[in-house]
Amino acid sequence: MGQTETKSTKTKVPMLDLKREYNHLKPEIDKAIARALEHQRWIMGPEVKELEKQVAEYVGTRHAIGVASGTDALVVALRALALKRTGKEHFLPDQQIITTPFTFTATGEAIIRAGATPVFVDIDPVTLNIAPETIAAAITSKTVGILPVHLYGQACDMARIMEIAREHGLFVVEDVAQAFGAHFNGGKCGSMGDAGAFSFFPSKNLGCFGDGGMVTTNDDQLAELAGQLRKHGGRDKYNVDHLGYNSRLDTLQAAVLLTKLRHLDDFNSRRKEIAARYNSGLGNLSNVTVPAVSGNTGHVFHQYTLRVADPRIPNPELRSPLRDALGSRLKERGIASMVYYPVPLHRMQVFQGRSKIVGALDETERAAAEVLSLPIEPLLTEEEIGLVIRSVAAAAAGN
Ligand SMILES: Cc1ncc(COP(=O)(O)O)c(C=O)c1O
Repeated sequence: MGQTETKSTKTKVPMLDLKREYNHLKPEIDKAIARALEHQRWIMGPEVKELEKQVAEYVGTRHAIGVASGTDALVVALRALALKRTGKEHFLPDQQIITTPFTFTATGEAIIRAGATPVFVDIDPVTLNIAPETIAAAITSKTVGILPVHLYGQACDMARIMEIAREHGLFVVEDVAQAFGAHFNGGKCGSMGDAGAFSFFPSKNLGCFGDGGMVTTNDDQLAELAGQLRKHGGRDKYNVDHLGYNSRLDTLQAAVLLTKLRHLDDFNSRRKEIAARYNSGLGNLSNVTVPAVSGNTGHVFHQYTLRVADPRIPNPELRSPLRDALGSRLKERGIASMVYYPVPLHRMQVFQGRSKIVGALDETERAAAEVLSLPIEPLLTEEEIGLVIRSVAAAAAGN
């Protein structure tokens, strides 16, 4: 080996191969982009309106409002609620929104951007979604809303969450970034709360060729306010009412998304099939727990996430040596894996002094240390699925 040479293994199964997906859909996507190139109506073009119509139909809401990212979808939905419920542009820091610390940063960030304080409560150890009983225990006179996240593509217990919200007069914004197509007892995620916030980040189940997002709601007033906030805050572009954003969904992204939406159900079904294959291939390994799938959550497997039990956690580093070793052994075998998420929000610097914790967050900290996600894109071949299963089994056995 030369001095600069390090041991490297060629990746045989990456987490996601977007080129493969593009090649699979190329004729349709190229045609959709060519149409947009011809009409040149780039801002709020016909594809945006058509996508909003189709997403509203798909999710089952009266309205869908395209925005520039999933993060903006959360901020716009929350700020529309602040305007509707308080008449103020933003919430105030003593207004609290209860959410999960086991999520992507954007969830907590959006609450702060909307002016409120995130209150982090613990998760359910089986689904890794926010646990309804921890929400109920955290409600005070300062609580204004609940922000559940349908993590990894699996719906939260929306029946219980909506019941708690109704009982206390709270709003619910669903973070549906990872769960396009998932449902709870048949109700699509994004249609059960006051509003849903979707992300079209390229790796999502419905992803575009850059950033994009969508707010869904059945509330006419919220839809009107969200529609204003995404375009500077006014009905009239040159006479504005509220402090808004330039956060429109691109016409070109909408063209790509309209094409991909036609394939979404097939792709989600394929994700479920792959998850079932993994579950039967890996379900008997000692130390490794496969994801629990509750029949009524319509899990769409944005991520397929194992847990590697380790008696040494929770520990201050939030790392399971056994989980890390499994990931390294998989890498040596050319199989990609990822930890979503290694640092829960309550442990991040950005949330110190700006958030609250209610109760112990032991389940969250245990999950952060134990989780490992495997490749689960819908176009994985049978050969690749088999290779992932064999590699995980060998790596879990220490090979
Ligand atoms: C749970 C969750 N919420 C919010 C977001 C933010 O979405 P975006 O990256 O489109 O801003 C993401 C993904 O990136 C996410 O996974």
